[in-house]
Amino acid sequence: MSEAHPGMSEAHPGMSEAHPGMSEAHPGMSEAHPGMNEAHPGMNEVHPGMKIILFGATGMVGQGCLRECLLDPDVETVLAVGRSPTGQRHAKLREIVHGNFLDYSAIESQLAGFDACFFCLGVSSVGMGEERYRHLTYDITLATATTLARLNPGMVFTYVSGAGTDSTEQGRVMWARVKGKTENDLLKLPFKAAYMFRPAGIQPLHGVKSKTPWVQAIYVAAAPLLSYLARVAPKYMTTTEQVGRAMIKVARDGYPKPVLESADINAV
Ligand SMILES: NC(=O)c1ccc[n+]([C@@H]2O[C@H](COP(=O)([O-])OP(=O)(O)OC[C@H]3O[C@@H](n4cnc5c(N)ncnc54)[C@H](OP(=O)(O)O)[C@@H]3O)[C@@H](O)[C@H]2O)c1
Repeated sequence: MSEAHPGMSEAHPGMSEAHPGMSEAHPGMSEAHPGMNEAHPGMNEVHPGMKIILFGATGMVGQGCLRECLLDPDVETVLAVGRSPTGQRHAKLREIVHGNFLDYSAIESQLAGFDACFFCLGVSSVGMGEERYRHLTYDITLATATTLARLNPGMVFTYVSGAGTDSTEQGRVMWARVKGKTENDLLKLPFKAAYMFRPAGIQPLHGVKSKTPWVQAIYVAAAPLLSYLARVAPKYMTTTEQVGRAMIKVARDGYPKPVLESADINAV
């Protein structure tokens, strides 16, 4: 023992000598980590654990994204920001309940240091006037994204709009115009990259539920048909799992174009 760890026997009289002794006994130890980095120089850069900030985690799309993030080993942490808690507990998950989605000044210090934002907050336009829909869709999304772009220059931002979104902003369909303007202005922000997800139908899987009662009722009633469509018609149907998986993949690996239609989401 004393020969193997010559410094150890001298250690107890003076702890300060113990550590010099230890490093002499294992001369390679202190160089071990530098050696590992040389052996795998790119490891930390290529597959760092992603830090994700998620909006709309209580909704149908957001629940699906949250599930996939918590399951994915490439995702290190998820911060869910919402007006209500998700009710979930997980070692990777942290939450901020926030009331004003136009002003983040009170929580700004907690919104920096993220690799990607999955923005799943959104509402159906059914029964809603243009002013209210624009406020909930355009104003909230752009206020959030502008703040995040300032705080996270290397961030990838993904936004869930929908199939039929009108990039010209001039068409006759109100929701499509508003989402088109939202997409266009998001794409001008100084993110590392921004991706617009345009799913058509989304089949909720793994117990995911819509917050919108009539949407949930449709999904329950049509579950067998949706399941069939998700398999045979990827152009018109995806699943909450596929949306979540695709968001993680484009955040990690990028994608050749900024707008992903349903078939793209399924193929990522
Ligand atoms: N579901 C589909 O089949 C489908 C298809 C294509 C596109 N999309 C788009 O995907 C997005 C999300 O849809 P979804 O089906 O997940 O909707 P959802 O189930 O109704 O969930 C909406 C989410 O947005 C949050 N939210 C709504 N209004 C808010 C407000 N004023 N302030 C803060 N948070 C608010 C909700 O939070 P609370 O829990 O606090 O209410 C919830 O997290 C929408 O933009 C939708 O158009 C959905």
